[in-house]
Amino acid sequence: VRHLLGIKNLNENDIHTILDTATQFKDVINRPIKKVPSLRDITIANVFFENSTRTRLSFELAEKRLSADVVNFSASGSSVKKGETLLDTVNNILAMKVDMIVMRHSSPGAPHYLSTRIPANVVNAGDGTHEHPTQALLDAFSMREKLGDLTGKKIAIIGDITHSRVALSNIFCLQKLGAEVMVCGPSTLIPKHLDELGVKISHNVKEALQWCDVANVLRIQLERQQIKYFPSLREYSLYYGINKAMLDDLNKEIVLMHPGPINRGVELSSDAADSSHSIILNQVENGVAVRMAVLYLLAQQ
Ligand code: CP
Repeated sequence: VRHLLGIKNLNENDIHTILDTATQFKDVINRPIKKVPSLRDITIANVFFENSTRTRLSFELAEKRLSADVVNFSASGSSVKKGETLLDTVNNILAMKVDMIVMRHSSPGAPHYLSTRIPANVVNAGDGTHEHPTQALLDAFSMREKLGDLTGKKIAIIGDITHSRVALSNIFCLQKLGAEVMVCGPSTLIPKHLDELGVKISHNVKEALQWCDVANVLRIQLERQQIKYFPSLREYSLYYGINKAMLDDLNKEIVLMHPGPINRGVELSSDAADSSHSIILNQVENGVAVRMAVLYLLAQQ
């Protein structure tokens, strides 16, 4: 049984295969009839132990457009609240003849744990602060669509790097595709070990914007912070917030991205998020085709 647990263990060829397959599925879902019968005999459970809007709906639409049968599980309102374990929960779902599990969990490694214990494909839809592989794939797909081959392209990931699973998956994915990666944020929100991954580090958002072709801006994840937050949201917005004037003043093409949800007025002003620099909603659109590709390729294994 094959899984998609993270980007770390994929190679460049795997990533290109997923992105090229997604290109074909994007053509399919732009047709009047958006469905193909590829997963007609497959049942997929979307098992979410953490909140989600984009990832969950995107997986569900991807599954339905591949003609899979779909069931959705949220930990809130389930028997997890009565003390049922992760493994018991998933084994009970599998007993209902489910073939694939798409899961989001707050614990880093939860999908890896499950993948060694259940006879079904596991797709990681975000595990705590660890990885969010389909987000990185849809980000790379969206960059490639806008800029072509990513070899030598400069990507700045700006924001709360420490608490972000999107940052780590993006770093792995972009480096495997030959891009240069910079992370930018206050030192309290950049993990010490990141220079070991070969990324540039900046604490100056204007420097990062000058340097990059793409700014992928991340949210401050207050819900994951154990200690009293520093800097405050007001300080963060003052020193690291990005507005449209800053992008216009660069006098060069720059692509603005954000995985969502946006904290408008904190990491991005509304005039930046909604500007012509932004491809934020294209990212969301592309997420369906990328997830169709991931599910389709796993089902072939
Ligand atoms: N980008 C992302 O993972 O958004 P959701 O948390 O809404 O799924």
